[in-house]
Amino acid sequence: MSAVPNPFEAPRLFYDHLAEHIPDPRFAFMNYGYSDPGGDDDFSWIDPPDQIWKYSLNLLKRLVGPVAVRGKRVLDVGCGRGGNGAAVVRYLGAAELIGLDLSARAVTLAQQIIDDPRINFVVGDAISLPFAAERFDVAINIESAQHYQDRARFFAEIQRVLAPEGYFCITDFSMDVAEMERLAQEARFRIIEFEDISHGAQAAVVRYKKDRIELLRDFAARGTASSETTDWMIAALEGHEPDEDVRYHRWILRKKP
Ligand SMILES: C[S@@+](CC[C@H](N)C(=O)[O-])C[C@H]1O[C@@H](n2cnc3c(N)ncnc32)[C@H](O)[C@@H]1O
Repeated sequence: MSAVPNPFEAPRLFYDHLAEHIPDPRFAFMNYGYSDPGGDDDFSWIDPPDQIWKYSLNLLKRLVGPVAVRGKRVLDVGCGRGGNGAAVVRYLGAAELIGLDLSARAVTLAQQIIDDPRINFVVGDAISLPFAAERFDVAINIESAQHYQDRARFFAEIQRVLAPEGYFCITDFSMDVAEMERLAQEARFRIIEFEDISHGAQAAVVRYKKDRIELLRDFAARGTASSETTDWMIAALEGHEPDEDVRYHRWILRKKP
């Protein structure tokens, strides 16, 4: 039995471990998701096979929906196993998607699972992006910035690879409003939208729990995941308690011309 690395001390090892021990291709998203706290969600736009990830797709739509990504070149930093990237193209109509992640094993899985000429995945670090200046129209970043040591460098890199007036859609629970305002100003972004989605993220965690646990048990039963790792994840899901002090935000920034 191999111990699960600590995601905050060693994110690369942790996400490599998950990819190695839970390679089931159905495990496409690794985020809290979003659900309307009053239960007023519309999931009718999601295809039946993707309904297992309806809260994650809901989060993506809430984050990116206000930006017109149809026909655009999109970068997903911290793309994990590629679920968001595939959805940005298939549901939101992006022309091209490049997903980048620190975990080489997660990137390999995404490459194997998602077979679409408009979508590519590369290994890389958010604070040193391997792309030319002004390469993308939109950048997205979902529950990944919590792991970055140097967020000022990350913002400077996003600024560099975005075209003038490009959009940066970011959601996470590690940045307060003051930090975001400072980072946005230093990197020459305007804040276009801000929303505290803490209650929606907490509602999703609660509503997702049963489905996720069933899915993890199914992976283990079919032998597409190691039961040590799925047991660890199930325990983490069962032990998850909403913490009112942790604020979960979404922001849309725009690069100044
Ligand atoms: C909680 S997961 C979210 C994955 C994906 N965005 C999603 O919503 O399913 C965090 C991801 O950030 C990646 N990550 C952590 N540090 C990174 C870095 N410095 N550069 C790029 N990716 C990073 C991890 O490997 C992991 O895949």
